[in-house]
Amino acid sequence: MVSHRLSQLGAYAMAAVKQRTADLKDRGFHPVDLGMGDPSRPTPKFIRDACAQAVEKHAASGYPPFIGSEAYRNAVANWFEDRFGVSLCADSMVVSSVGSKESIFHLPEAFVDPGDRVICPDPGYPPYASGTQFAEGIPYFAPVNYGSDFLPDLDSIPDEVAEKAKVFWLTTPSSPSGKIASMEYLTRWVNWCRERDIIACSDEAYSEIYFGDPPHSALEVSTEGVLVFNSLSKRSAMTGYRVGWVAGDPALIAEYRKLKANIDTGTPWFIQDAAITAYSDESHVAEMREEYRSRMKLFVEAFVEAGLPRSESEASMYVWQKAPEGISSSQLAEALLDEKILAVTIPSEALIGDPASHGPDEQFVRLSMVASWEDSERLAEAISQHLKF
Ligand SMILES: Cc1ncc(COP(=O)(O)O)c(C=O)c1O
Repeated sequence: MVSHRLSQLGAYAMAAVKQRTADLKDRGFHPVDLGMGDPSRPTPKFIRDACAQAVEKHAASGYPPFIGSEAYRNAVANWFEDRFGVSLCADSMVVSSVGSKESIFHLPEAFVDPGDRVICPDPGYPPYASGTQFAEGIPYFAPVNYGSDFLPDLDSIPDEVAEKAKVFWLTTPSSPSGKIASMEYLTRWVNWCRERDIIACSDEAYSEIYFGDPPHSALEVSTEGVLVFNSLSKRSAMTGYRVGWVAGDPALIAEYRKLKANIDTGTPWFIQDAAITAYSDESHVAEMREEYRSRMKLFVEAFVEAGLPRSESEASMYVWQKAPEGISSSQLAEALLDEKILAVTIPSEALIGDPASHGPDEQFVRLSMVASWEDSERLAEAISQHLKF
């Protein structure tokens, strides 16, 4: 009854952690969920107010334009130019998305034929591979770990994969490691893709959550053959609004718009208006960066006190904590669920597509910096006191 496409998706790897969390809840404990990258803080009030006003303005709701309103695309282009110094034509180089998850999952439908390869960072955001499989393409998992400095090693990609590849996904800043691709790496990556006629797709969902120098965008290298995916979800704590965009090469954007016309009817007008307001302000973004930075430092120091390797992030809302030698990622995640700690995290084993390409010492857990300050302090204290191997 179920399609081949759906049935080929793997079993849900978080099942063991979820089961343990449910058991703890049944026994009256209150585990803190650091699994999802979903901010618990409210969306800033001025954005919520703008949304409420826009609902009235669009009292007759009407279907929104699926490519995004002109005002929204202009707001994206203006913000992008201020932030990255690259001018984008809002008419031909920007299209709205219902958040990046939608656009990432669907993109292969526009460019991938059965049997084509799509290069995906491993571990990486699951829709890179699942969207590929739904388009009947074959993911190639490029390891991003200690060994590769947390970026895909271009020289290690086999020629037969590169020859059949249509799309190459890069996440910068990376989830889960927080690694930022330098301009030098981005230039090599874009040129490598261009030489092989592969679309360079840069997922920049965490571009505004950084703790040192601001990350670059792949569109600073070139707009030819490059698409960038971003959204308001992480930048402005708007995960529930579902508003994002794809920008880049006009020829590719035109094809993507053709696909999108068949998929959805666009982000609602009033949400696009709220997003325009969000892009008019940087102070709330700077404030959130500080919140993530202080939580990240709290957890990093707690793990160091517990005797684990120092695992600081350059960017993103995650700590990618390395496990002690001889301890698997699942064992570390399990230990963090101990009744004296009660932190729900994601083990690297659950995020990896091709275990064979990761050595036994590539064991990590991902902690999302989304808990309240009080919960974060309590967890950090518990980790430093009670995490023992
Ligand atoms: C790496 C990465 N890309 C894209 C997304 C999608 O975010 P959204 O669909 O909310 O824009 C996420 C969400 O967690 C993510 O972690």
